Amino acid sequence: MSVAAATSAIRERLGDRPAPRLGIVLGSGLGAVAEAVADPVAIPFAELPGFPAGVVHGHAKRLVLGTLAGTPVAVLQGRAHLYEGVDPAALAVPIRTLQAIGCEALMLTNAAGSLRADVLPGRLVALSDHINLMGVNPLVGPNDEAIGPRFVGMDEAYDPQLRAALHARAAELDIDLGDGVYLAVSGPSFETPAEIRAFAVLGADLVGMSTVPEVILARHCGLRVAAVSAVTNLASGLSDEPLTHEHTLAGAARGADDLQRLLVAFAGAFTP
Ligand code: HPA
Repeated sequence: MSVAAATSAIRERLGDRPAPRLGIVLGSGLGAVAEAVADPVAIPFAELPGFPAGVVHGHAKRLVLGTLAGTPVAVLQGRAHLYEGVDPAALAVPIRTLQAIGCEALMLTNAAGSLRADVLPGRLVALSDHINLMGVNPLVGPNDEAIGPRFVGMDEAYDPQLRAALHARAAELDIDLGDGVYLAVSGPSFETPAEIRAFAVLGADLVGMSTVPEVILARHCGLRVAAVSAVTNLASGLSDEPLTHEHTLAGAARGADDLQRLLVAFAGAFTP
């Protein structure tokens, strides 16, 4: 119900503008990308039925509609995290609404800790795969076959063509874009050094508290997915710096400018 109501609220605000083709989710400290959206229409989550307004850190969570380098986009500025206590299934409404208003692909961004000593704060990494250690899956519960299948394949969850396009744009812009596996935890506590050592053995390059539920939901409803992490810190036990949220936000600022340039170029060349 919420998806239908949110979709009509958005369509009303869009009027005769073109429907968005690319959805973008902006992670912690990475909200500035929304400022690059031309001719923006911003709708606070609070005005969209079923969009989790969540806890507000300084600014309102909102949906920004407009164009990025000529491509119609829908940007979710601010997301709900599981550590806020939201029902994992509640994360579905924004993702399914993006699909319902016309998006064919979803670009997710996040702030992440790095498990690799050679991947330092400020670096951008395209996700090649993920490991879900959040302990929950947002598709648990009754399945609506009209939205997607009961059992969703997660091989090539991160679309190889979109990832190649990201690398091509990064090369043109002289941005050093890595590739890596993202391991998701629920948070809100940061990891212990022993956990990070264990995650490295499992094959993780990055650790964070978001993105994976949205990737699962997006694949379920047929959206193609790409994701980029902005490394904000070396993971627990890998550096002498204490892990704090402020430290994370400061680290995000170091990658935010490159991320903005990369997303604008990616959107401009986006072909479904
Ligand atoms: N751990 C978990 N989530 C994070 C980190 C981290 O080190 N940095 C940014 N988000």
